Amino acid sequence: MILARHAGFCFGVRRAVETAERAAPATTLGPIIHNPQVVGSLAAMGVTSAQAPSQIPDGARVVIRSHGIGRAAYRALEAKGCSIVDATCPFVQRIHDMARSASESGMPLIVIGEREHPEVQGILGWTDGPAFAVLTDEDVDALPPLDQALVVAQTTMVQARFDALCKRLSGRIPKLVVRATICTATRDRQQEVADIARRADVMIVVGGRQSANSQKLYRLASDLCPRTHFIETAAELDGIEISPSDTIGITAGASTPDCIIKEVVARMNDIEKKVNPEENPELEVMSEEAIDKTIVQIRPGQIITGKVEMITDDEVCVNIGYKSDGIVKKSELSSTDVKEGDEIEVEVVKVNDGEGNVLLSQKNIINRKAWEEICAKEEAGEFVEGVGKEAVKGGLLADVAGIRTFIPASQLSLRYVEKIDEFVGQPMTLKIIEIDKAKKRIVASRKAVLMAEEAEKKKKIWENLEVGSVVKGVVRRLADFGAFVDIGGVDGLVHVTDLSWGRVKHPSDVVSVGQEIDVKILNVDPERERISLSYKQTQPRPWTVAGEKYPVGSVVEGKVVRITTFGAFVELEPGLDGLVHISQCALTRIAKVEDAVNVGDIVRVKVLDVNTEAKRISLSIREVLEDEALASEDGQYDIDEIPAEEAYAEEAAPVEEAAPVEEAPAEEAPAEE
Ligand code: F3S
Repeated sequence: MILARHAGFCFGVRRAVETAERAAPATTLGPIIHNPQVVGSLAAMGVTSAQAPSQIPDGARVVIRSHGIGRAAYRALEAKGCSIVDATCPFVQRIHDMARSASESGMPLIVIGEREHPEVQGILGWTDGPAFAVLTDEDVDALPPLDQALVVAQTTMVQARFDALCKRLSGRIPKLVVRATICTATRDRQQEVADIARRADVMIVVGGRQSANSQKLYRLASDLCPRTHFIETAAELDGIEISPSDTIGITAGASTPDCIIKEVVARMNDIEKKVNPEENPELEVMSEEAIDKTIVQIRPGQIITGKVEMITDDEVCVNIGYKSDGIVKKSELSSTDVKEGDEIEVEVVKVNDGEGNVLLSQKNIINRKAWEEICAKEEAGEFVEGVGKEAVKGGLLADVAGIRTFIPASQLSLRYVEKIDEFVGQPMTLKIIEIDKAKKRIVASRKAVLMAEEAEKKKKIWENLEVGSVVKGVVRRLADFGAFVDIGGVDGLVHVTDLSWGRVKHPSDVVSVGQEIDVKILNVDPERERISLSYKQTQPRPWTVAGEKYPVGSVVEGKVVRITTFGAFVELEPGLDGLVHISQCALTRIAKVEDAVNVGDIVRVKVLDVNTEAKRISLSIREVLEDEALASEDGQYDIDEIPAEEAYAEEAAPVEEAAPVEEAPAEEAPAEE
């Protein structure tokens, strides 16, 4: 026994029947369905049917069946003050819209279908211009001459007939706009019945005798299987001859309720058992559950693939192979870029949304996947990407892959955040710090990411620090013992003795906070996180260039920095002092140096000798004065000639004092701090 998957109520019929049940007591305009059993049970609920608006009492509640009605019928009902419950199938509604716009643009309408069928009548009722219904070649040939036309199909039309008539129409009408409006539920049902009929020895078509689509199924099956029977109820099976070896195919029209299909299958089982009680025990399997299994089972949370059948302004109708079609609200689509015929993955939210439809969601799948990814990242200790969405009490709500994530204010930054609003709209990398899988709640930290980034940056800097290399830095802070310099994320210390080749009382004498300087890395201690730097080693040593900078005979300015019994030491530049022997301090002989100069005086001196190896410079104030006197040509002098070398020879020790200050290991400095 082969039971068609697409057997029984279609989406539109189920929707209409359930709408009528909910609307009871009410009147339907024409029987809601071509099935006397269903019509009977509706009547028992107070749902009666009328053939025309004129038969309906004023003010009554009227249910419009899935076939839909024309504009005039709506107006007539409204004029009677009826409340209208519209159960027109959305697929049919779409054809009404096409008919209306064709009419508005002056395009004639041709409906391929049965002229007297209520659905075709309803469609024709939405045009004001020329409109025709055709079903045969003769109908096409009888059409008046037309330049253009819009062609639609009755939803239950057989595809092959539709194609053939369209072809014929295209030979007659130059501009033909064809809209494929055959309902896919119908098409699938027709295709399936043909498949089954080819394989079956006996075909049973269950449906209302008035049902157009059931009649078409019967015709299709009869063409392929001569032993095809059209029945309305299970009781009619009794007269059908079946042999033990027969393969029986069963299908049902769109107006056949599940209960009748189940009854038919059950009766077939009984007949088969009577015919052959021992053989074919597998037929026992075709019980009610077997039917349900055949009809595809779905459950909330299940992810299935369906085919987009129709798109309206608010929702997308999806064929999921279930007895009812599925509905995805537009707000539940992951992308609005979806078109009819697309296969999409959807999650079942509700098997019945209260209107007989299966409620589906695409977003749920995305959210679920996103959630799984976030959980996996949290377990792996990986960061996630998010965007600030809304400042809330105590923090910020961010969107992480579509999932709301809370970031406490204290976790937003490395520093105190005054205006949380500033983070709204900002992309950010986050670390999940708390995850409640049951409540689907996530708490994240941006601060943790920033800290990790800083640590990584520091690690890289430490790895790249090379003793002896010269790097750029910015003076961040000064202390008595030296200057702290930021060399790209980490601070190093330039000890006061490493700031200059000369004597330095305070680091501020050499550098200032914010100043950019080059520094040489002297030592790196990653464990204690200490870096020793030298500024002076990036400067030329004064003694190495003293010969060129201060040639013998040149006159320069200097500052008296120290006075001894044999002379005055004059600083030419930091780290470079020269001696003015007492005999060279003045034009005349003086008893003591202070008679000529004092510490702090700025004096002009002539370079008498530069000995870079011995680090000695001999200077003279007297010669400058003499030169000046000679230049003015009015001076007489009493000069004691004492060569500078002799002065140094007499007192070697003081000269050593003028040598650069002994370099103290800079790395010891932080301990002083
Ligand atoms: Fe609608 Fe298609 Fe059924 S048009 S009423 S879903 S056969």
